[in-house]
Amino acid sequence: MPELIPVLSRKDIRSLVRRMGRAISADFAGRKIVMIGVLKGSFVFMSDLIREISVPVCVDFIQAASYGDATETSGTVTILKDIETDIQGKAVFIVEDIVDTGLTLTQIIARLKERRPASIHVCAMIDKRERREVSLAVDYAGKTVDRGFLVGYGLDHAERYRELPAIYDLKL
Ligand code: IMP
Ligand code: MG
Repeated sequence: MPELIPVLSRKDIRSLVRRMGRAISADFAGRKIVMIGVLKGSFVFMSDLIREISVPVCVDFIQAASYGDATETSGTVTILKDIETDIQGKAVFIVEDIVDTGLTLTQIIARLKERRPASIHVCAMIDKRERREVSLAVDYAGKTVDRGFLVGYGLDHAERYRELPAIYDLKL
């Protein structure tokens, strides 16, 4: 039987998201930002995050080919759905549920940079450090963990557990 070990409660998540929203609002006071959610995992986090931000926000989504049903990243990323927003000259945020090896985001960032945004910042609910393969800064992280396979609050394993309101470490 798979076991779910609690990592962040609903209450923990709420205060971490609020803290990130406040930091972003302070750092980008007087500006407009474009938040690009990486589908599918980011949608729960992003919907909470934008409601904690007090500067004007435009939202868009991008989808890259993911793990499938495995727990290892493949290394090459295919864009399944691109953004529709013109980001040239804009302050862009990429919103991720979790950054693991960093390979997915590195490739997404490279593609978005070609469109000459003013800036690109990375915002992730979880910054998972141990398996990072590229130097990639998560500018705003909810929580840093070393290892584990986390589920809930948008995070899935083989499309399961996204609906859980808290975050757990899945032991298979
Ligand atoms: P990366 O390219 O290795 O950084 O992988 C990033 C993507 O892999 C994330 O957007 C997640 O969709 C998925 N992923 C990585 N670690 C986990 C995890 O612990 N739980 C659920 N999904 C994960
Ligand atoms: Mg993801």
